[in-house]
Amino acid sequence: MRVLVTPDYRTLSCQAAEIIADAVRFEPRLTLGLPTGSTPLGMYEELVRKHSGENLDFSRVKTFNLDEYIGLAPNHPRSYHTYMHLHFFDHVHIPMKHIHIPDGAPGIDTDLESIRYEQAIQQAGGIDLLVVGIGSNGHIAFNEPGSSFASRTRMVDLARETRANAGRYFVSEDEVPRRAITVGIGTILESRRILLLASGSGKSDAVARALQGPVSEDMPASALQGHSDVTAILDAAAAPCRDEC
Ligand code: F6R
Repeated sequence: MRVLVTPDYRTLSCQAAEIIADAVRFEPRLTLGLPTGSTPLGMYEELVRKHSGENLDFSRVKTFNLDEYIGLAPNHPRSYHTYMHLHFFDHVHIPMKHIHIPDGAPGIDTDLESIRYEQAIQQAGGIDLLVVGIGSNGHIAFNEPGSSFASRTRMVDLARETRANAGRYFVSEDEVPRRAITVGIGTILESRRILLLASGSGKSDAVARALQGPVSEDMPASALQGHSDVTAILDAAAAPCRDEC
């Protein structure tokens, strides 16, 4: 695993965007796996800037988001559909038919949707470059501690810590959905290349355990140690502490 420690969040965002931009320039038909959350916001902003300022062309790129809440309609202000359109898709001219996000709308058959989503990834030829954040409890996508490393796209219960962290985006923590559809760790590990992003001191413990600790299903992100092409981009605050600790 390559680990790049950047001085700050802005540099992390620019480096992540540059890696994606290089990959898209090299392979315009790239299939991307994309996260939501606070960490990739700067990366999306920079990619939008590259699209408008440097003519970075996303018109042939396909995207698969990693997860979506269950029980929120796509147009709900807190759905990951809304997040992605607001921060990225609406600004970079990706054809709608190239965009894939699990459907967690109320009443959806989550088993069928999970199978459909997993098949759509396979039919697209798999994910070339998957970007993933990390939860403070070590989750990747919404694979919470205890998730099998062989898991595929499925419905999951969100950990209490995950819902508490998401509470800042909702009126109250009670309104955070209890479940989500997420790609599995097995799905993630099949991606050809993985970019792990972590920012802020709240992530440093999880990052240390994920990158340097034992590989264990108690720490989902440690599964990435078994992948042959992972680049972790950390800002200084998220980097495992060294001499001063
Ligand atoms: C979101 C996702 C999550 C987040 C993680 C970190 O699509 O898959 O695993 O990446 O919860 O979230 P932030 O970036 O908000 O700290």
